[in-house]
Amino acid sequence: MLYFDKMLNRANFNAEKWSNTRQKKLFKKDHLHPMWIADMEFMTVPQTIIDIKKRALEGHFGYEYKSEDFFDSFIEWQKKIHNWHIDKSWIHTAPSVSSALPILIEILTEKEDGIIIQPPVYHNFASTVKSMGRKLYKSPLKLTFEFEMDFDSLEELMEKDHTKVIIISNPHNPVGRVWREDELRKLSILALKHGVRVISDEIHRDIILTGHKMVNMMTLGDDISNNTITLLSPGKTFNLSGQSIATAIITNPIISKNFNDFIHMFHLNHNNILSNTAFESAYKHGEDWYNQMIKQVEGNLKTLKEYISFKLPEIQLIEPEGTYLVWLDMRKLQPDPHLLLDALSEAGLAVDAGHWYGREGAGFIRLNLACPESHLHKAISLLKSAVESLRVPSN
Ligand SMILES: Cc1ncc(COP(=O)(O)O)c(C=O)c1O
Repeated sequence: MLYFDKMLNRANFNAEKWSNTRQKKLFKKDHLHPMWIADMEFMTVPQTIIDIKKRALEGHFGYEYKSEDFFDSFIEWQKKIHNWHIDKSWIHTAPSVSSALPILIEILTEKEDGIIIQPPVYHNFASTVKSMGRKLYKSPLKLTFEFEMDFDSLEELMEKDHTKVIIISNPHNPVGRVWREDELRKLSILALKHGVRVISDEIHRDIILTGHKMVNMMTLGDDISNNTITLLSPGKTFNLSGQSIATAIITNPIISKNFNDFIHMFHLNHNNILSNTAFESAYKHGEDWYNQMIKQVEGNLKTLKEYISFKLPEIQLIEPEGTYLVWLDMRKLQPDPHLLLDALSEAGLAVDAGHWYGREGAGFIRLNLACPESHLHKAISLLKSAVESLRVPSN
């Protein structure tokens, strides 16, 4: 897969992942080999690059509206890839999933209301809830033979008077679960019973690995759909995160109106013109690229898995079902998350530390597999050095 083997030169373009300033701040070292941050070391869909270039060369950047083609490309994608039939009236846009989330929290809750999350989970959930003066309720995932939702703790938290919202990540970042229908149904029924709204962050929904299936939560029934808001974006799917465009799918007319009012109040409906082009083009022309990208990620996962099982048996790789991220249990080598991160940085590797996703993630690390094989090979050799430095010498 030639296209996916080409190393880019992102360090010269202010890529956060490659920034020495950012690395120094977080890892106390710079020039580390970056396997952190959820964006890709791949160029995006070739036709999208052409379309953005063409649009830029037009040279006029006045106000524009989102065309029918913009919405159609998204609707067609969801139909084709996920067999999900979305009505145009359900689609709301926002600059990013991270900005749609606080808008939803603002319209669905009041100060001091409780919001449930399931750590270890994408760190912005906790920081957004806390920064908005809402109570953070944690229902940690349980690790049995796989990561599972803890329905007893969920029910206990939902029963509390002021619990108004649960935010779920599906596929789950960082543990890689793609929630099954029975799990989503059980969660939705509990939420309905206790008057708790569900925000389903499905930014990783397109990256489903072979053998697994993404369930469209909002097709599980009208009552479930009207109690759920789904957040989507082309960012993870096509490596377009810097383009800043996302969607919120809302069928509930009251939530829809409130979301719209908020978006218009702050004039958040005008994205960058180039982001509109990128969005439409990638959903319209990105399917081949997308299929190859998944193959590349799956190939990388296989390489990493084989290496770990033969050479680094102290590491437990949590098999991802979705996302291009892999969650590694390093606790046998070093349970202290700070010492673990120091050892990895010392070896020259920048990873996402498990404890950034909540204390439940301590002793784990997250690696990003959306990269050329050569980038992964270097990461594996640095991981090996880190493991060797952590191994307790036997007498
Ligand atoms: C689960 C999840 N939600 C949201 C985001 C950020 O989305 P955006 O770039 O649209 O703000 C990320 C980025 O890693 C993520 O993993």
